[in-house]
Amino acid sequence: MSTPVRALTLEQLRERTSEKWREYPADVLPLFVAETDFPLAPAITRALERAVAAGDTGYVASRTPLPAAYSEFARRRFGWTPDPVRMRSTADVSMGIVEILRRVTAPGDRVIVMPPVYPPFYDLVEEAGAIVERVPLRDTGAAWEIDLDGIRAALETGARAVLLCSPHNPTGTVHTSESLAALAALAAAHGATVISDEIHAPLAQPESAFTPFLAVSDAAREVGYAVISASKAFNLAGLKCALMVTASDGPTGVVRALPVEVEWRTGQFGLIAATAAFSEQSDDWLDGLLATLDENRQLLAALLAEHLPGARYRIPDAGYLAWVDLTDLGWGDNPARRILREAKVALHYGPAFGAEGAGHVRLNFGTSPEILTEAVARIAALRDS
Ligand SMILES: Cc1ncc(COP(=O)(O)O)c(C=O)c1O
Repeated sequence: MSTPVRALTLEQLRERTSEKWREYPADVLPLFVAETDFPLAPAITRALERAVAAGDTGYVASRTPLPAAYSEFARRRFGWTPDPVRMRSTADVSMGIVEILRRVTAPGDRVIVMPPVYPPFYDLVEEAGAIVERVPLRDTGAAWEIDLDGIRAALETGARAVLLCSPHNPTGTVHTSESLAALAALAAAHGATVISDEIHAPLAQPESAFTPFLAVSDAAREVGYAVISASKAFNLAGLKCALMVTASDGPTGVVRALPVEVEWRTGQFGLIAATAAFSEQSDDWLDGLLATLDENRQLLAALLAEHLPGARYRIPDAGYLAWVDLTDLGWGDNPARRILREAKVALHYGPAFGAEGAGHVRLNFGTSPEILTEAVARIAALRDS
């Protein structure tokens, strides 16, 4: 049995100065941006305290323990052992995606994204000089899945890359290894690239059978890049550290050829914290967090069923983000606006994730049962007002 990981109290959380706790006034419950309300894993606290005490605040070294720590983490958690020599660090996942996209596309090339999807994906493609091609996830009525026919059609007409979100934000979908292998085969057949954003992978629930993209097939290793980070599971976004991971010579060569500045932008504290996060010392903490998030995703289902029966919500396979369809409540295309104004609960706006997000909200349940319960009660009270 792992040790349970419990969220801080509202009073403690209001001491924080990050985006989640400073964007809105104190009467708003913030369940929007993807930060969590848990204390740091003890191994991370110890590593950062050591670094502060030693004044270890210079640039990241050119050789660091992080790639090997991630390789071992992936072996323990996903049964896959990537080669540390084929990885490089950078400041964050977004920067890794843009830098790779810049190398694998020419200006004006089309890059496939799968809405509803993490809104900055649209901006990252543009920042790299490419153009977004939307191939929405298919809603089977019971789950979301990659639209392989849509992707084939886009690749046949010249799309050059696929920006995959695995697990998928905001739906929390863990893609099947079969669908990932089929995606890799399609990309290989069309000489296209797949960039797999696996920032939420450490938060895949045990029964979801998450498979890293680069582990699914030889074709995936030939066409693929993964960009990973400890920042979502371990709440380290402000420390700035991510890894670009490759598993065959072509992509490894591309990542090696990136300007050294891309690596220099890695945060030293981020690197220290991520190394501690991926070490064995944090496994028990991560298991405890997953158990807590499992309770929360079920609690949210129960709360919505009881207090907001018009809401439609599928329990996510991974992470702490819930994609909730409020269309039937008749609160318009962007219900989060009214919820913020009148219920004083901050959620992410559904339409920001793409046209498929009309009528939806994204709710962050990486918090305490008390805050989650209060948030749903506030939203449900709007029904009667
Ligand atoms: C799918 C996905 N990718 C990237 C990011 C941002 O990561 P970073 O801060 O490392 O750029 C997030 C943040 O929530 C995310 O959900």
